Amino acid sequence: MKKLNTILIVLIALFMFITVQGCGEEGVGPDESSDDGSESSADVDTSVTADVSSEEGGDGSSTDVDSSTEKDDSSAGEKLSSENDDSSSDNTSSDESSPVSSDESSAESSSAPVSSSDYATEIAEWLGKLTIEQKVGQMIQGAWFNSPDINADLETYSLGSVLHASKAADGAGAGPDQDVGSWASTMEGLQDAARSTSTGIPLIIGIDAVHGNAFLPKSTVFPHNIGLGASRDADLVRRIGVATAEQVVAGGMNLTFGPVANMSQHEWWGRMYESFGESEEIVTSLTGAIIEGLQGSDLSAPSTISACAKHFLGDGVTSNGHERGDATISASDMEKHLAPYQAAIDRGVGCVMAGFTQVNGYRMHHNEELLTKLKDDMGFDGMVISDWKGWGIGYNSGDDGKDEKTPLTVADAVNAGVDMLMAADPHPDQVTYPVTAHHSQTYAELLAAVKDNKVSEERINDAVSRILRLKYRLGLFEGTDAGHSYQSNIGSTEYKELAREAVQKTITVLKNEGDVLPLDKSQTFVVVGKHADHTGLTSGGWTRYWQGNDGSGEEFKANPYATNIWEKLDAGTTILDGVKEIAGESNVTYDMAGDGSGSGDVAIVVIGEYPYAEWFGDEEPCIAGGDMWSDVCADSERGRADRMSFTGDGMLGDQKAMVDKYVAKGMKVVVVVVTGRPIPSDDIIDDSDAFTVAWLPGSEGAGVADVLFGEAPATAKLPHAWISSLEGLPVNGSDAAAKFPFGHGLTYDAK
Ligand code: BGC
Repeated sequence: MKKLNTILIVLIALFMFITVQGCGEEGVGPDESSDDGSESSADVDTSVTADVSSEEGGDGSSTDVDSSTEKDDSSAGEKLSSENDDSSSDNTSSDESSPVSSDESSAESSSAPVSSSDYATEIAEWLGKLTIEQKVGQMIQGAWFNSPDINADLETYSLGSVLHASKAADGAGAGPDQDVGSWASTMEGLQDAARSTSTGIPLIIGIDAVHGNAFLPKSTVFPHNIGLGASRDADLVRRIGVATAEQVVAGGMNLTFGPVANMSQHEWWGRMYESFGESEEIVTSLTGAIIEGLQGSDLSAPSTISACAKHFLGDGVTSNGHERGDATISASDMEKHLAPYQAAIDRGVGCVMAGFTQVNGYRMHHNEELLTKLKDDMGFDGMVISDWKGWGIGYNSGDDGKDEKTPLTVADAVNAGVDMLMAADPHPDQVTYPVTAHHSQTYAELLAAVKDNKVSEERINDAVSRILRLKYRLGLFEGTDAGHSYQSNIGSTEYKELAREAVQKTITVLKNEGDVLPLDKSQTFVVVGKHADHTGLTSGGWTRYWQGNDGSGEEFKANPYATNIWEKLDAGTTILDGVKEIAGESNVTYDMAGDGSGSGDVAIVVIGEYPYAEWFGDEEPCIAGGDMWSDVCADSERGRADRMSFTGDGMLGDQKAMVDKYVAKGMKVVVVVVTGRPIPSDDIIDDSDAFTVAWLPGSEGAGVADVLFGEAPATAKLPHAWISSLEGLPVNGSDAAAKFPFGHGLTYDAK
């Protein structure tokens, strides 16, 4: 099945490419439900802007609304160009409030950016002796696995950087089935090869370590950012940054493409879970905190890596939540969208990634105004990297004086302020479909543009200075591969405990009728559903592979455990494990299929989404209107209109039926939802006794059980309003359409 999916993906990619080529382009109200005994609508009406809490009866549950509130080889083919629609909307929320418990002070106290005069002498020397070819090469990030002879390419093209997203086509080297030592030797081999080239300049090596280094086998996978947003705990997030950096250096790499520093406000966006939430305050605070953890106070320390705040700008507020879509940001809202980036810069962030988005009609890779603002006004002296061949997507609207429909070029992006070009497509000889951004191609394009005087040497020198400055700050010229000492930490008790603490702080209790929670562990339990015992499903996208699992759920429907190599992610605990640990194995049965065959006092029914990442998770790309998605959605796993429904036989199947079966048995029913975004679930909320959201907890699912049983307190608050239906999205703050407003979350103490 996996193979078939891969073939399908490649065919779709090819079809998309041909289509694009043919066109000549490269290219969250109040819960008023009477059965939710936990709160009244009045509680919520005043929410978000005024601290509201209503004591519950029983054991003290309270409503507390915060007021202040791999890539595999085929994936490269997926990186062909896309088109955005022309529609636009301002989805920004007026609600910015939410307290973030933190050591703001600790976040502020460290890692102030060092001066951009750092290493001025060394950089000037390099600029004097590097040839223009070598300078251009420094501006290219290739894919080590997408080239027949990467070591030779390091010399031929003087590549400044490589990224990791998969393993080599021949199966060699780092990948989900190799241990950390093999990863480190692959990456260190590349680093050694770079140091042996004529320039001898070491490499920036990047990876999408967006919830821990989840590509690394046996690594501890932390909750995705949306869950961390529910925790409001900046110090926790900082500590996760520290652990993530250690998992990255252990594998021989030195930069992560994260965090997403944007407010995600549209539920249809398949990357909502990568953002900390819908509010400026949460996103700003937690962006700063994770960068502080990743980068520490000394970027050159063996344990630290560069962060890369992304995707500049507006990817959480595109029209219809389209990945690579169009965001309209008013002048008065602009500052709040920039605030998380300012927090990143204030922590000395090494890298900012330009987004695929178009903001107010200008593709971000070509948005000289905003990229200049970032560098000149906001004080960013690090490296702006493109997204995966992001310069070639679409064309400007023409409002910027360029001819309408002029395809955008590498030169346009560099002139606008992009310093490093992510050019990681396969080598043209490796695939049967045409590619446009193998590093050799992008190198040639940029070099030709410089030689044709389309890009000035001054701009090239500025870009190379920024890249070299980051390399100096990372300590790469000191020539150590000191991450080795962190290899023994992979899978350590310390990381697992941190991840479990994080899970405890992210599970959000939305309903708790009759104070069924915290559960009484002397009772008997049936745990229901495959999400209850599957760390792959609880980890979501960007786990081992680009899309996590195939993203469709079809594979799971056919045979949930068939070919999944990360059934239990090699390590980690599941929600079921946690329930058994607390209640005792003999008091717990498991009904994986959800057929109602289990029995006991309480049913813990775990339902959820299947893993997805960019594109594949978008819900509504097929909307009529003629963008390119409408051509492929009928046959594709993308854009299935049924992706966000727990009822019916669509993408998520009829998971409500699992709840119904146990309600019909007269048992108490506690629902846990594993999801990257709010999903309409009114019926399920109505029918259950307790309704909780675990977000995408990662590899330590047992933390969910800790809160269900009161081994740990319930403290989390919604980072995004919870929706009632798919009509009228986006729903944010305390919009009347919200089932539960932003900031809602029932709390109780540990027993
Ligand atoms: C995504 C980025 C990611 C990059 C490298 C892109 O397609 O948009 O978020 O960092 O690929 O994998």
